Amino acid sequence: MTSQQERTSPQVYPPPPDLAAHAVAQAELYERAGADRLAFWAEQARSLLTWETEPTQTLDWSGAPFARWFADGRLNVAVNCVDRHVEAGHGDRVAIHWEGEPGDRRTITYADLAREVKKAANALLSLGVQQGDRVALYLPMVPEAVVAMLACARIGAPHSVVFGGFSADALRSRVDDAQAVVVVTADGGYRRGAPSPLKANVDEALADRARGGGSVRKVLVVRRTGQDVAWHDERDVWWHDVVDAASEEHEAPALEAEHPLFVLYTSGTTGRPKGILHTSGGYLTQAAYTHRTVFDVRPESDVYWCAADVGWVTGHSYIVYGPLANGVTQVMYEGTPDTPTRERWWEVVERYGVTLLYTAPTTVRTFMKWGADLLEGHDLSSLRLLGSVGEPINPEAWTWYRTHVGSGRTPVVDTWWQTETGGIMISPLPGVTTTKPGSAQRALPGICTAVLDDTGVPVADGGTGYLVVTEPWPGMLRGIWGDADRYVETYWSRFPGRYFAGDGARLDEDGDVWLLGRVDDVMNVSGHRLSTAEIESALVSHPRVAEAAVVGASDDTTGQAVCAFVILRADDGSPPVGEEDTEALVAALRAHVGREIGPIAKPRQVLVVAELPKTRSGKIMRRLLRDVAEGRETGDVTTLADSSVMGSIRAGLGGSAADG
Ligand code: PRX
Repeated sequence: MTSQQERTSPQVYPPPPDLAAHAVAQAELYERAGADRLAFWAEQARSLLTWETEPTQTLDWSGAPFARWFADGRLNVAVNCVDRHVEAGHGDRVAIHWEGEPGDRRTITYADLAREVKKAANALLSLGVQQGDRVALYLPMVPEAVVAMLACARIGAPHSVVFGGFSADALRSRVDDAQAVVVVTADGGYRRGAPSPLKANVDEALADRARGGGSVRKVLVVRRTGQDVAWHDERDVWWHDVVDAASEEHEAPALEAEHPLFVLYTSGTTGRPKGILHTSGGYLTQAAYTHRTVFDVRPESDVYWCAADVGWVTGHSYIVYGPLANGVTQVMYEGTPDTPTRERWWEVVERYGVTLLYTAPTTVRTFMKWGADLLEGHDLSSLRLLGSVGEPINPEAWTWYRTHVGSGRTPVVDTWWQTETGGIMISPLPGVTTTKPGSAQRALPGICTAVLDDTGVPVADGGTGYLVVTEPWPGMLRGIWGDADRYVETYWSRFPGRYFAGDGARLDEDGDVWLLGRVDDVMNVSGHRLSTAEIESALVSHPRVAEAAVVGASDDTTGQAVCAFVILRADDGSPPVGEEDTEALVAALRAHVGREIGPIAKPRQVLVVAELPKTRSGKIMRRLLRDVAEGRETGDVTTLADSSVMGSIRAGLGGSAADG
């Protein structure tokens, strides 16, 4: 893929001269960070954040790979994101221009936000939440999601945001793993014109205490859609009752820099999601620093829009913590880009004069598919910088983004990072870097990465290998919730002393990084991380499925698509599957995965097969299944226990597997 990328994109883009001359981040940043990395980070922490007690220590790596940053410092994250801007005289500055999918709008200033966060903090305390308790948030993209996260941060109760598109089962397992004491939710939210059943999912997740959810004492419910919801008087409370009635006075405690800020579950290579733990001072330092330098942020004039969901790490670091720590004005939009029309985004950009836009390649490819003429009637001249995140951006999409959204003049920054890294790690600096479409380019000042070969030796420029981070960084995860061993094993065992990200990468002749996608059993669908094992275990929990193998197949729009191969049970008493009921069964299995995990995990294709390709030791050879799913000739089959299996899979699929 890479050589082709480079062939099709000889064009490079130097920074616009006016941006380069006045950019927040200049080239000397690399030199300063290179000369003394820890002093550089200490300086960022001091200059970007307000500390109750300034840290004198920077990094404690004595417990490696468990890091402590700024450990003797004390601060309050919510105060840094809200109160201090009001105190500095910016209370009237808009923090959030919010737009609901049906077209309703709210304008929230920093002064408003400060008031709401304090009230919500008092409300959580009145519900019995104590410092250190976990609070699960299962919310649509409404301002209350930001308020609830900041209220948790304010009282030191780590939040665990569960994406609103996840199912009741997925919510229950996350609530259980973190032992959350309160769930904050809404009756529903709007997506593609329809209200989602959030409260109903919470009810289902908590219905049967024998199955889980037993830690939850209260459910705090935002009224968003007004739809009917079941009510449990002893457990459920309305946001508008308890938060609206709460006091506007709340004194924020000064918490230790290493106080847990949040847990965010993400898919790994096993069936069980991992609770990624982030703490306060280091995480906020990196979120603020990267947001400011990568987006060249001018809080007094920019209107920033990160079109992610707060349920993912991008929403945590680049809707809530980074932008608010930097005191910017931002747009928050509830719904999908095609509701009510496919011009919704460009209307939003025009209405608020958005200057900085951050989204995922899958969205850019969707806009490409819809056609550039949809943008033409709109004034997009306010845009001055575009960002990309979540998956490799192909040069065609990158170039289209710059040409049509950026009117051929804005820099595009492709930002590589992960839930685990907390903030951006590899990205151009818009005033410094000459960008190459499709490359994330260089580690940011203060971040040290390398690409290693199989034996752990750094590859030379032009080489391909595994992306690692070679030095600890402030926003790094502090562990996996409740599973220290898994943290060490997952990230630090493949290359001892190096953080292994799970991505393959190539260095080009200039040493710039080109991401090649995951090298493990993690898929990336529309920039969302999904585990093959998690979907396989959802499939085999269906009574008709004996065995399942899931692969991520290339998809023009979503990057990868979930493709499942299933073997049916012979012993369940059901009649053999004929042509006519395969379709119904496939639909049932897709729906089952949707229920077990969430609609985003539904396979694009489910292929019923008689056998799966396995090695002699019984490991499924996903590489071969990927060949089938992508309609390619099958690669090397010599390590298969039974080399005829691939032939029978293809024959059984009538040679048209890729069409599903
Ligand atoms: O494979 C990489 C891909 O997304 C993974 C991280 O997913 P998640 O933790 O959900 O965080 C997504 C948002 C930061 C990575 O291991 N990825 C993320 N950004 C890029 C990327 N792949 C290529 N280029 C990127 N810019």
